[in-house]
Amino acid sequence: MEVKIYQDYHALSEAAASEIIDLVKNKPGAVICLASGHTPRLTCKLFAEKALQQKTDLSRITFIGLDEWVGVPPDNEGSCHYFFQHEVFQPLHLSASQINLFNALSINLEQECQEMDKVIADKEGIDLMIVGIGMNGHIGFNEPGVSFDSYSHVIKLDDTTLTVGQKYFKTATSLGKGITLGLKHLQESKKVILIANGTKKAGVIKKTVEEKVNNSFPASIMQKHSNGFVMIDQEAAGLLNRNN
Ligand code: GLP
Repeated sequence: MEVKIYQDYHALSEAAASEIIDLVKNKPGAVICLASGHTPRLTCKLFAEKALQQKTDLSRITFIGLDEWVGVPPDNEGSCHYFFQHEVFQPLHLSASQINLFNALSINLEQECQEMDKVIADKEGIDLMIVGIGMNGHIGFNEPGVSFDSYSHVIKLDDTTLTVGQKYFKTATSLGKGITLGLKHLQESKKVILIANGTKKAGVIKKTVEEKVNNSFPASIMQKHSNGFVMIDQEAAGLLNRNN
């Protein structure tokens, strides 16, 4: 794992967006997994802008959504579906056959997990994951205590996630469980980029990079990835020891 520090949120997002474009140029059939949330919003916007400007052929990519709030419908503006629809799929005119998102309204969530795992396995794994980090160290909805060996699963969300998660919704929304790719997917992904910005993420970034790898702080698994990058702005890097 390598830490890369950028001047500010915009520079960080530019770099992350360029990673996606470069990958697709080298591998038009790439399998790409992105997170939703506030951090990746500018990355997605810049990716869409660059792809349109450069007329990048995205017709063969496979898109994988990292996670979703169980029970939240896709037309709710706080859902991950809604985010990707508006930030990525519509601007880039991706076709439905390229898009793989968890249906968090399904009556059979186990089957949703199995189907997602099968899509990823059939495509011989994910080429690039760009993920964020929660205030409890989660990646996707891999909450503290999760197994590092997990693939897709449904999980009870912890109190931090339930509280912080309200920021995505216009009105108070009942949240309880999440459906998410697992940390085994992350470990098997050919490249992983964790992005974070702002002083509020400085503490979790310090733990991600400097704490002993342990599943009570799931993002610490990044340290084990041989092609893993923690890309952050100077504010999020504010508490790191100098030698990182
Ligand atoms: C959310 C999502 C994650 C996201 C993280 C950070 O709850 N489940 O996939 O990366 O928390 O979100 P943000 O970028 O808004 O801080």
